[in-house]
Amino acid sequence: MVHIAQRPRPRRNRKSEAIRSACRETTCTAANFIYPLFIHEADVDIPIASMPGCARLSPAGLLAEVERARDVGVMMIALFPAVAEALKDPTGRESFNPDGLIPRTVKRLKDRWPDVMLVTDVALDPYSSDGHDGIVAPDGRVLNDETVAVLCKQAVAQARAGADIIAPSDMMDGRVGRIRDALDAEGFTEVSILAYTAKYASAMYGPFRDALDSAPRHGDKKTYQMDPANAREALRELALDEAEGADMVMVKPAGAYLDIIARVRDATSLPVAAYQVSGEYAMLKAAAERGWLDERRAALESLLAIRRAGADVILTYYARQAAQWLQG
Ligand code: PBG
Repeated sequence: MVHIAQRPRPRRNRKSEAIRSACRETTCTAANFIYPLFIHEADVDIPIASMPGCARLSPAGLLAEVERARDVGVMMIALFPAVAEALKDPTGRESFNPDGLIPRTVKRLKDRWPDVMLVTDVALDPYSSDGHDGIVAPDGRVLNDETVAVLCKQAVAQARAGADIIAPSDMMDGRVGRIRDALDAEGFTEVSILAYTAKYASAMYGPFRDALDSAPRHGDKKTYQMDPANAREALRELALDEAEGADMVMVKPAGAYLDIIARVRDATSLPVAAYQVSGEYAMLKAAAERGWLDERRAALESLLAIRRAGADVILTYYARQAAQWLQG
């Protein structure tokens, strides 16, 4: 037998599953997940080609999927609407229609499962004929304060329908504070705000825009979403969202932005969320379909890594599936 002089041997703490389990620093459970789901008016579920396993869900398809998710412990759902082209206009007026797809769906889900937390997206892109998160001026600029006024109406309509958590994803300046004031003025003091605090202008949103037909008709989102080169700026956004009254803050995307998650985690005592976006999901799915990755292991590892970086909550299209895998 060969013995080298080596007193500290980290491998001792890895020698059995029992020891590894005892020493594990990070956990990831169904309770950490928010499950984003796409909905539309039609009576059939339409699969999304670039997001295998996801579909634009019919009302019946949505109820079935929420029930399946709830059965495995996923208790938070984020809703994204695919809106008929005929309902889109330059100012996104359908976004605050009290009888629109989102308010009707929220009411139906809350009636059925009051314990499921419903997260609704605040931004104009699904409703905008320009495909932008805000109102586009004739010269192509995305107007900040005019947009925020519409976002406030959208948030109030969602809260009135029964939404538990309002999630502004638009990246306009000052919208968290204005939405907080608008909610409070209408008596919705218990409705939370999950702010998309550091949302980057990422190539990883492509499949989501396919899913909703919501890609910008002209230009890109770089005048409001953050530059992927920037980290300090995330802390500036964090300070503002905290001051404006956010209850939780989000980093998006997640996998390529673990450094941002870690920095935001260190800089705030608020819960931190991270969004494993459509492109991250599509990459895992595509490699798994080709047999190039073990999907279960790769997906669970990606989620654990996001938790380890410091996210409390993860928005992921894998939520229901991962919760099933974690049950064993
Ligand atoms: C739009 C919105 C986007 C996503 C969530 N809300 C797309 C975008 O900003 O263009 C992307 C989510 C994903 O890619 O999974 N307000």
